[in-house]
Amino acid sequence: MFCTRLRPRAIGRRGRNLRCGCGFRLRHGQFARHRGTRREQIGAPGPLVPSRFVPNNPETTLFRGFPPMTTAPARPQNHLLSATGTTIFTVMSALAVEHGAINLGQGFPDYDGPEDVIRAAADALFDGRNQYPPLTGVPALRNAVAAHNKRFYGIEVDPNREVVVTSGATEAITACLMAVLNPGDECVLIEPLYDTYLPVVKLLGAVPKLVRLTPPRWELPRAELAAAFGPKTKAILFNTPMNPTGKVFTAAELAFLAELIQRHDCYAVCDEVYEHLTFDGWKHIPLMSLPGMRARCMRIGSAGKTFSLTGWKVGYITCDASLQPNVAKAHQNLTFTTPPNLQRGVAVGLAKDDAWFASVGTELQAKRDLLAEGLARLGFGVLPTMGSYFITADFRPLAAALGFTGDDVAFCRALTAEAKVTAIPVTAFYAGADAPNHYARFAFCKGEAVLREALARLEAWVTARKAQGRQAVG
Ligand SMILES: Cc1ncc(COP(=O)(O)O)c(C=O)c1O
Repeated sequence: MFCTRLRPRAIGRRGRNLRCGCGFRLRHGQFARHRGTRREQIGAPGPLVPSRFVPNNPETTLFRGFPPMTTAPARPQNHLLSATGTTIFTVMSALAVEHGAINLGQGFPDYDGPEDVIRAAADALFDGRNQYPPLTGVPALRNAVAAHNKRFYGIEVDPNREVVVTSGATEAITACLMAVLNPGDECVLIEPLYDTYLPVVKLLGAVPKLVRLTPPRWELPRAELAAAFGPKTKAILFNTPMNPTGKVFTAAELAFLAELIQRHDCYAVCDEVYEHLTFDGWKHIPLMSLPGMRARCMRIGSAGKTFSLTGWKVGYITCDASLQPNVAKAHQNLTFTTPPNLQRGVAVGLAKDDAWFASVGTELQAKRDLLAEGLARLGFGVLPTMGSYFITADFRPLAAALGFTGDDVAFCRALTAEAKVTAIPVTAFYAGADAPNHYARFAFCKGEAVLREALARLEAWVTARKAQGRQAVG
């Protein structure tokens, strides 16, 4: 959000007072605060008009001939987006900041990714390859994605015709859905679900068919799943290892799903961002590796999750050559390309040796154990986590002793405000009514000291609430 007219001049004339074409006076280095031009907002060439137009202000009346924007248009905007609330992650993170809470809500590590990967991306900024990279990704990363598929899952992939690099798995999910769904097509989704799935399916005009997993085992409900597939089913969006449940789907569950997909002649968008984050010997099995699934699956990975670099937003799709052109065209219309230096860093990461990939799960497992044991000690009903960044914990066993009668949203708010630890209410991952409302999701992708401090705060809170309860009763 810079003044595009000013910026080159400001860089060229260090330390001088400047007046840009928009009439705002700035010193060099202040241009970051000069924001919100109309041209940037609408993304089209045209006159620069300040977003906050102040009538009779000499700074803004420089724009003679352009009517001031005094009223917002009355025409309704996109109703699906207008009806979509701010994500629960943003809401809870803001609450965490407000209360100085340790944020175990949002799933991002508080430690950095591998140094060699970061170094490779940093070095790549300085070798003169900073223009648009190829649409489907830089060759180094496409080759690395193909080699990674072969090494871990035995899937043979043509790096030139079967890989598309995207700006995060979030974009990849949208691109894959765009590639296959037409308005009116049905798309099977499994609750609890990641927050972008449902809005994107709806925005594409497709019809979501929700199938619900139930705690504590989160098993695939075979009869309900089979009933959700029908003549209009075009695709299923399937996540394993799964957020927020921490479930890794078994070979038997995947085989059941594969049979349904084949019988109904549909596609599978496979969100596998936690593919390397599995524990206790659980191994991730890509649906794509099952018989008959090779040409039907679009398999999505995320460098953010695999390399603890969530801010990079580099994702990669592996799909059959028959699907890749549409996936690439969707990507072309969404972001077109992804920063080339980050892609080249990720290529270095995907080439790391087997021991490194094994260590990712082992190190995270130790964090899971620390948090799971601590929560169980405090009285939470901790559900098993086989993979991902997350533990789901039932707070009902504690509720009476804490004098707590609310639902999961109230619990997570109280936890944030009173215990100064933030978690996410699991109902946020359900679209339908009557979702289980007594679970909180805790992220354990944090440093050991942070997890210990969070547990200490929770213990102090539990002790204090129990004491209050005893006083009230006594
Ligand atoms: C299940 C799932 N899919 C996709 C994503 C988004 O991945 P990325 O950050 O690469 O866009 C996340 C992030 O939390 C996730 O949990």
